[in-house]
Amino acid sequence: MTIHIGANPGDIAETVLMPGDPLRAKWAAETFLEDAKCINEVRGMLGFTGMWKGNRVTIQGSGMGMPSLSIYANELISQFGVQTLIRIGSAGGMQPQVKVRDVVLAMTSTTLSTPSRGIMKELNYAPCADWGLLHAAHQAALGKGLTPHVGGIYSSDVFYDERPDLNEQMTRHGILAVEMEAAELYTLAARHGRRALAVLTISDHLQTGEALPAEDRERSFGDMVEIALQSAFA
Ligand code: ADE
Repeated sequence: MTIHIGANPGDIAETVLMPGDPLRAKWAAETFLEDAKCINEVRGMLGFTGMWKGNRVTIQGSGMGMPSLSIYANELISQFGVQTLIRIGSAGGMQPQVKVRDVVLAMTSTTLSTPSRGIMKELNYAPCADWGLLHAAHQAALGKGLTPHVGGIYSSDVFYDERPDLNEQMTRHGILAVEMEAAELYTLAARHGRRALAVLTISDHLQTGEALPAEDRERSFGDMVEIALQSAFA
């Protein structure tokens, strides 16, 4: 057991999917895994371990934002020996060709700050995805008839951003979408020699103001879970 994960040694698989929302972790485990068992309830940040096509998988909520994800990813890596961490979550579109419902595979993530900033200091470190996972996720998405966008995203510390000028610069520099977790996930994975990827669905659009209706969210979330699982075990 760790401070934030009440699982026993061996309860957590080497591959972990990380949605921000713990109830999404529950839904995904019940929908896609066989013999899923709840392995964490600390602070309501639910985690489940089960089997997918003969492979052992854990689906653990990360919470919102990099400080929260950092807690869970650090403990999963350092205390539970997790090797592969795949974020599945939503993002806001930042380019006209990136539409609501589209899938974005984050090749890199730009950020102003992460919990790792303290050790990076003046270094502008470039957090990037594991190539093998990224390539496999691209293949998996194409196989589902989707046309994923692959490129850079922005991991923000704020959802209600009061600096629209900054978003404009991101758009100008080709950033596809904004979310709040991937940069720290990629940085931690690199530091510890693990594999990481963020598979995202566009839930809202910063330029058009469009938002994904609630009834469409489950379907698009299911696509992300399947892409993540297929890429992890490709
Ligand atoms: N996640 C989903 N939409 C987002 C947005 N607009 N900003 C930050 N994170 C998000």
